[in-house]
Amino acid sequence: MFFSQESLKKLESAVDHAMHSEFKKDEIMHKFHNEDWFDENYYKRHILECVIRIHMNNELDANAVRVAAINNISAAKQLSYYLYDEFGHDEMFGQDLTKYGYSSDQIVSKNAFPETWKLMGYLNFCVEKFGALPAVVWDWFLEYYGDKFNNFITQKAGVHMGNQAVSGAASHVAFDEAEDHSGMMTEMLSSVIKTQEDFDLAIKHINSFVPMVGEYFQAVRAETLS
Ligand SMILES: [Fe+2]
Ligand SMILES: [Fe+2]
Repeated sequence: MFFSQESLKKLESAVDHAMHSEFKKDEIMHKFHNEDWFDENYYKRHILECVIRIHMNNELDANAVRVAAINNISAAKQLSYYLYDEFGHDEMFGQDLTKYGYSSDQIVSKNAFPETWKLMGYLNFCVEKFGALPAVVWDWFLEYYGDKFNNFITQKAGVHMGNQAVSGAASHVAFDEAEDHSGMMTEMLSSVIKTQEDFDLAIKHINSFVPMVGEYFQAVRAETLS
């Protein structure tokens, strides 16, 4: 098998490096992920975007399953299992959004930031053109990011807003851990990264989508803190 523990380490360090560059561009993004800094409006708007993006992500993964079904059954099978698991995860965060006063007609993709449209547009385009790899690498990134930051962010929000206000986000953290989503995605990487060329493409996607994640956090900052 081409994909090794060493390949995984290289992908992780590509993500760490790219995230570090984004943290350097946006101090608030850095503090939100790594320090005690907290702002309620920033957090709530972020959770709204997360739920909208989960819907978009499920559509992306469904597209990727369809594309993989043509010539990569192993990826299609594993990704459809992951998608099965992720369906309904929006509802966990959704419980929190109701507490924040968001109604269901606000939780729609037209209310997402253009930065999110750009990110999801990029991923859908690449899946359509090049196969499931970009979606699998992105989902792996989401789980890797989640492992690193979601628990920290949720606990911090709980301290500031009360545990009841973040119970949906907290149950999502527990769910991802119980179902070992990051382990599942790490295994899935080998179904799409089979050659050096695939690996180079994965790095290229990481270096493209992480800056878009940074742009999204800058948009949250501009809307909620200025
Ligand atoms: Fe999830
Ligand atoms: Fe997950």
